[in-house]
Amino acid sequence: MVSAWYMDDSDEDQRLDHHKNPPQPVDMKDVVNLTGVLHWKLNIDTYEGDGMLDKIKKDRGYNYEDVIEISPEKLPNYEEKLKIFFSEHLHTDEEIRFVVAGSGFFDVRDAKNDSWIRIKVEAGDLLILPAGIYHRFTLDSSNYIKAKRFFVGEPVWTPYNRPADEMPARLEYLASVQSN
Ligand code: LAC
Ligand code: NI
Repeated sequence: MVSAWYMDDSDEDQRLDHHKNPPQPVDMKDVVNLTGVLHWKLNIDTYEGDGMLDKIKKDRGYNYEDVIEISPEKLPNYEEKLKIFFSEHLHTDEEIRFVVAGSGFFDVRDAKNDSWIRIKVEAGDLLILPAGIYHRFTLDSSNYIKAKRFFVGEPVWTPYNRPADEMPARLEYLASVQSN
């Protein structure tokens, strides 16, 4: 199962779990309600043939696909990229990641009280962050993740660092979570 929890406030290594003391886990269905994030657990051994990923891609119109592999050896400008990924930002489109190997953390803001929720992803997790959600990403201490990225049409990966409160994508996002 994917797991998620409210994060502590410590400045220690971003790759650590950052549980609160005591830990404050969040059910994935609450993450969905609080943030509008979508999640599916796919079978990593059968996903290429079992039709589940194909159906989600078709239903959501994802017609672009590539693969990103993040490790000190595999990603050019690794340190710089990781800093960018871990700066709180939003996008004007969904961020769609299907983890095929390794693991990492997506941190998303709970729209009600602005706290960080840390979502641990590993092989088989398909995570969709809605347009306009403030988020960031880090590797965990295993320092490795490989993920498929999907998009509708020509991909736009531009991050808009917080504050981006007046952007239409942000306003639309807030309206959509408040109406939940
Ligand atoms: C991205 C993730 C790392 O923008 O948030 O690619
Ligand atoms: Ni992002």
